[in-house]
Amino acid sequence: DTGKSGYDHFMLKEIHEQPRALRQCLRGRVDELGGTVSVEELGDLDFDRIHLVAAGTSYHAAVYGAGLLSAEGISAQAHYAHEYASSPPPIEDATVVGVSQSGETADTLAATREARRRGAGTLALTNTVGSTMARECDDAFYIRSGPEIGVAATKTFAGQQTALNLLTQVVADGTPDRDLVSALRDLPGDVQTILDESNAEAVAEAYLDAEAYFFIGRGLNFPVALEGALKMKEISYEHAEGFAAGELKHGPLALVTANTPVFATVVGDGELARKTVGNVKEVEARDAPVVAVTDGRSDADRYADHTLEIPETDPRTAAILANVQLQLASYHTAAKLGRSIDKPRNLAKSVTVE
Ligand code: G6P
Repeated sequence: DTGKSGYDHFMLKEIHEQPRALRQCLRGRVDELGGTVSVEELGDLDFDRIHLVAAGTSYHAAVYGAGLLSAEGISAQAHYAHEYASSPPPIEDATVVGVSQSGETADTLAATREARRRGAGTLALTNTVGSTMARECDDAFYIRSGPEIGVAATKTFAGQQTALNLLTQVVADGTPDRDLVSALRDLPGDVQTILDESNAEAVAEAYLDAEAYFFIGRGLNFPVALEGALKMKEISYEHAEGFAAGELKHGPLALVTANTPVFATVVGDGELARKTVGNVKEVEARDAPVVAVTDGRSDADRYADHTLEIPETDPRTAAILANVQLQLASYHTAAKLGRSIDKPRNLAKSVTVE
């Protein structure tokens, strides 16, 4: 067993550790009674303009974080770290946030070093105390997920998403959003509900012969689609792609067949949900099987072959919950295909060369 606590893989153990990891991330930072959010480590950096730099799964967290910050009127952009280091955009007075589980990824270190060289303030958003990035940046904000052994990031992605919500509330003007504070309070329990009730294994079983797996979402669920696809390709070695749902008709729709299941995240009953349900209908009309990851507030499940349910919550935390269902779908697909889940071929947990 060697530390897997009875789970077949570290990845599954770490997926199940998420409620605890998120509680740790929130501890002492969210005051439910007072409705306040505080992060001691943020020091006196100026967060009027933010560049988030990252690689892999952490890049998807960065895209999600840029969405959160932008919605609060803060100028924020996510960049691939390797691009940022080699072709840096105008930095002006931006503060650069390196998002990195390990704090040792060479590409991301190159980006934060370039930022420092150009005089920008830097923050390491990381899981690893004392990592190179934590030491080199002005401040370090720890996500407190605990050690992650599986090469494919799971609990640390949820930790990054949660920490980025905290960062957003701290740097936004005004008092923290009560809906979000209450959604964050419920988050560990909501993740536990998914872990207890998910039918992702049956969904995985249904599509083992798929030619490719597609993932779609809008807004905060676009990075969830990217991450869903990355997880699937990393551990199952099957072809998987994440698309912005709004881009489907501009190209990806040509790939959709009866043998390409489409995982669509649909949250709430607003404009984005309505449009994504429109996309679901488009792929359904091309005979593609649809798996709706949804809180049931739209009619997405009416057009879906399978539903992966998430508890009703704020749209920001819904994107964290939807990802947990996709982690499970990828895990069970890879397990049934007999893949090397904790150590996928050709991949390393931390890539320390550029
Ligand atoms: C490697 C891992 C990925 C990870 C990426 C960034 O490619 O295989 O799972 O997302 O590095 O790692 P970091 O430690 O910077 O978050």
